[in-house]
This record gives sequence, structure tokens and C-alpha cells, in this order.
Amino acid sequence: AETKLQLVERHIRAFPDFPKKGILFRDICPILKDAAALTAVIDLFEEHVRANHQQVDLIVGLDARGFLFGPLLAQRLGVGFVLVRKKGKLPGATVSVSYELEYGKAEAEIQEDAVTPGQKVLLIDDLLATGGTLYAACELMKKQQAEILGCLVVIELKELNGTDKLKPLEVFSLVRY
Ligand code: PRP
Ligand code: HPA
Repeated sequence: AETKLQLVERHIRAFPDFPKKGILFRDICPILKDAAALTAVIDLFEEHVRANHQQVDLIVGLDARGFLFGPLLAQRLGVGFVLVRKKGKLPGATVSVSYELEYGKAEAEIQEDAVTPGQKVLLIDDLLATGGTLYAACELMKKQQAEILGCLVVIELKELNGTDKLKPLEVFSLVRY
């Protein structure tokens, strides 16, 4: 029988030269389109979190595709969800940090009251490439004095060495290319 991981892998597509020439874009849309594949992703994350973390206070999701998985996992774990957004999208007092992408530059932002000092957080995104995005989100968490437990991603692109950039933080990935 097919494992949950095989089900997930079967729902990831690759598009050459998107959004720029030379980038092989891994597309998670088929996972979202398939109820069983999406459930399998959340099951695998939940199993990992329950096996490795005694207490989690918040799931922190990255704009935009971290928002697709983060709230589902947070609900499973019975904890809240916080948004790290691209700059200029969040109202009220915010904290921001700039970072480099595999194909561009951006600024990440959170609401100042999103996380309180000492809260134990897990960051989640669809994909780890250079690690710049997750690194920036971690910087925001440090500014808010959160305790970062680790990062969760559906896909890790190994050749870009994102896990090195995030060291000593733990990165849990479901599928690696
Ligand atoms: C992609 C992806 C991750 C990030 C990974 O998002 O969803 O968030 O890039 O790259 P990195 O590890 O090199 O930082 P993107 O910035 O394209 O934004 P989007 O989710 O709004 O499409
Ligand atoms: N797929 C999706 N998002 C990405 C990728 C990719 O291959 N690289 C950087 N962000």
C-alpha cells in the first residue's frame, strides 16, 4: 500500500524556468487539490511534532504558502496560528526585517503583539530554498523573544543549503530534492 509520504510526493509537480530561467519550480498545488494528500501532510507534521516537542504554544506561518498548511496543523495541535507577512499587509504596530530570496528581495513583518516573550513557536512554510525567508522569520521571533522550537517544511531543496543557513535550528522536511 502507498505510504502517506508517497501520497504526498505524488502530488508535487516541477515546472522548469519558473518564475525565472534556471529555476525548477516545485508546485504544491496538487496537494491542496487532493483531500487525502493534504490530510497526509498534516498527519506527518502532527506525528513529528507530537514525537519531538512536549509543548508548543504557537504555529507561525510564512506568507503566502505557509498559510495553507499552518492553520490546519495548529488546529490539530490545539494551538493558535500567527502570520509572518510580506511588508505592508498588517495593521497596527509591527516589527519587520529584510531578506534575500532565491529570485528576489523582500521584507517580512509581524504584528508586535503576535508573540509574547518565552512562547514556544514552530515555524512552517511550504518550501525551504536558500533559507532566507525562514531565517528572516526567525529574526522576527528573536526580536519578540520567542523560543523557536524548529521549522517545518513540506519540501527542502537540498542544493541550496537552506538547513546550513538555519543552523543550529532544526528543520523537519517531508520531501527533499
Ligand atoms: C517561496 C516559498 C518560501 C520561500 C523559500 O515563497 O514559498 O516561502 O520562497 O525561499 P528561500 O528559502 O530561498 O527564502 P515566495 O517568496 O516566492 O513567496 P509566495 O509564497 O508569496 O509565493
Ligand atoms: N517552488 C516553490 N517555491 C519556491 C521555489 C520552488 O522551487 N524556490 C523558491 N521558492
